[in-house]
Amino acid sequence: MLPIRQYGDPVLKQPTKEVDEIDGRVAKLVDEMIETMYEAPGVGLAANQVGVQRRLFVYDVGEGAAAIINPRIVESSGEWAYEEGCLSVPGLSWTIVRPNHVHLVGLDLDGREVSIEASELEGRVFQHELDHLDGTLLLERLEPEQRREALTILRSRAVAG
Ligand code: NI
Repeated sequence: MLPIRQYGDPVLKQPTKEVDEIDGRVAKLVDEMIETMYEAPGVGLAANQVGVQRRLFVYDVGEGAAAIINPRIVESSGEWAYEEGCLSVPGLSWTIVRPNHVHLVGLDLDGREVSIEASELEGRVFQHELDHLDGTLLLERLEPEQRREALTILRSRAVAG
């Protein structure tokens, strides 16, 4: 299991770089990330959450684990409120409104193009993981009041060590 970077780690704020070549190292990283995600447990994990500045994530919303490499959301619509958490901000969650439907494109581990229309939990996971890959944490998606409370909690945690 790989260590999951936590809130405050600068790696979480840096946008990742595209994967140039899907080689054995990428396949090994994906295996380790899937194992780490299950162990956590979580439904998605972005590469920079394990300290790797590459544009890929793994996820499993109940239909088996998969990796998406160089993902992009090309269309989104609707609205959906959902209680969202993050493995890099453990123990906390907030109701966040985001688009319900997204169209995600990218590559699978074999380098084949994938195109997925997703809604609800799957759509939410895709948006959350793409945020990570762009260096954005869910804290930046909170309403001002939620965000103030969140930062108070996180600061008190930092003081407590
Ligand atoms: Ni997260």
